Amino acid sequence: MNYIGIDLGTSSVKGLLMSSTLEVICTYSQDYPNNVDNRGWSDQNPEDWYNKSLIVLKELINKSTDQVAAISFSGQMHGMVTLDEQDNVIRPAILWNDQRTVAECDYLNNQLGTKFMIENTGNIALTGYTAPKVLWMKNNEPELFSKVSKVMLPKDYLAYKLSGVFATDYSDASGTLYLDVKNKRWSTPMLEVLGLDESNVPKLYNSFDKVGMLVTEIKQYLGIDYDIDIVIGGGDQAVGSVGTGTVQSGDVNISLGTSGVVFAATDDYKEDERGTLHSFCDATGKFHKMGVALNSGGSMNWWTSNVLHSKEFDTMEAEMNQLDPNEKLYFLPYLIGERSPINDSDIRGSFLGLSLHHSDAHLTRAIVEGVSFSIRQIYDGMMLSGDPQFKITGGGANNKLWVQIIADVLNKPINLINASEGPAFGAAILACASHTNTDVSNLATNAVQIVDTVYPSVNSSLYQDKYEKWLQIYPVLKDIEL
Ligand code: XUL
Repeated sequence: MNYIGIDLGTSSVKGLLMSSTLEVICTYSQDYPNNVDNRGWSDQNPEDWYNKSLIVLKELINKSTDQVAAISFSGQMHGMVTLDEQDNVIRPAILWNDQRTVAECDYLNNQLGTKFMIENTGNIALTGYTAPKVLWMKNNEPELFSKVSKVMLPKDYLAYKLSGVFATDYSDASGTLYLDVKNKRWSTPMLEVLGLDESNVPKLYNSFDKVGMLVTEIKQYLGIDYDIDIVIGGGDQAVGSVGTGTVQSGDVNISLGTSGVVFAATDDYKEDERGTLHSFCDATGKFHKMGVALNSGGSMNWWTSNVLHSKEFDTMEAEMNQLDPNEKLYFLPYLIGERSPINDSDIRGSFLGLSLHHSDAHLTRAIVEGVSFSIRQIYDGMMLSGDPQFKITGGGANNKLWVQIIADVLNKPINLINASEGPAFGAAILACASHTNTDVSNLATNAVQIVDTVYPSVNSSLYQDKYEKWLQIYPVLKDIEL
């Protein structure tokens, strides 16, 4: 038997075909547009997700020499998909990185209050979450809002189209801000605030639960006559943590993609009293703490493509290695505002300490350091006990200097692993765990091995001082209206 994991991302949908011995057989992706404008609005057409996912599924089924037993999902989180009574999409899905809901977040955090938010949901309102998007639609598009019959998350739309079952899982639902995370049930007070009731939201499952079977129409399109289980899956960070084996309490994964995510698996629900980090359910049946820096690898992409044009980060690595780490140059990676832990949509990025002798390599190294400091700030805010074991994944993990600087800034050993497919692999593991009735954590731990460890270097104490200075910059800059 083989298994398929579908990772529904922001720029593409990626499918992964996995064998019953947890080997990746092949992957296949399809892109789709993400409409972003200068107001910070970001949306996507759910039908694009569906149509492109069908193409991906067909390719993987054709490549599979064995029957596919189950399909599961990892999805970009927080996005709001709205359907009317006939199941038509009412408006484009408003995505996780959309910033239009500043006024709604202000209402939720300051009128209803952060105490109400944390008591009922475990989190405070951030522009990314789904609840402020629902409120925005209610306030700004009342006619469209009156047609809403179902509100769901991106991967749940896909699961609904493939199985006909209106379902979600606890990990993805945690990012709606209308789940009572601690008690794993929809929050009635929050649904009331949004003008919704339980009939408008999906039924809750574990990420590894089978919710239905692939519908006949799609089986025909794929040219198969056997049954395939549809397993609901979860939010991309929670499912990615399965794909990186970050499943035991004390495991911490740093994912350096466009965003920078620090994910800490925890056995129990741990409330963050200040609400600056996420307290969410995970995909194995437990919980996790998480912080998201919005523009980590994204800062480097901006720098190399918009400013340096021709130069690549990798070609500058040797030059950067020669530079004095004690350089008094700092970078704040807030190019699109910041989520964790400062939760500030208005702040923007900056270099501080520019001097005539600085070259492109100095500024590039300052970006690496600034992003690493923001990762440390998230980790510090988690206040984890014990001696956490760190892994690093994502594009940044391929860069030796970056991993070394992260190890120095955190003053912790950082492990590199043999699995690079993160969320799509995690989704395939969920499909397999469900079909074979096996524990997700055991499967994930067996599937992922540590291949190398990077230890803090002599620069570590210097970086502790630099980090202290870096922390002082944002409080000074934040009140200046640009
Ligand atoms: C998690 C988050 C991102 C998105 C897009 O809170 O916002 O991981 O899910 O990938």
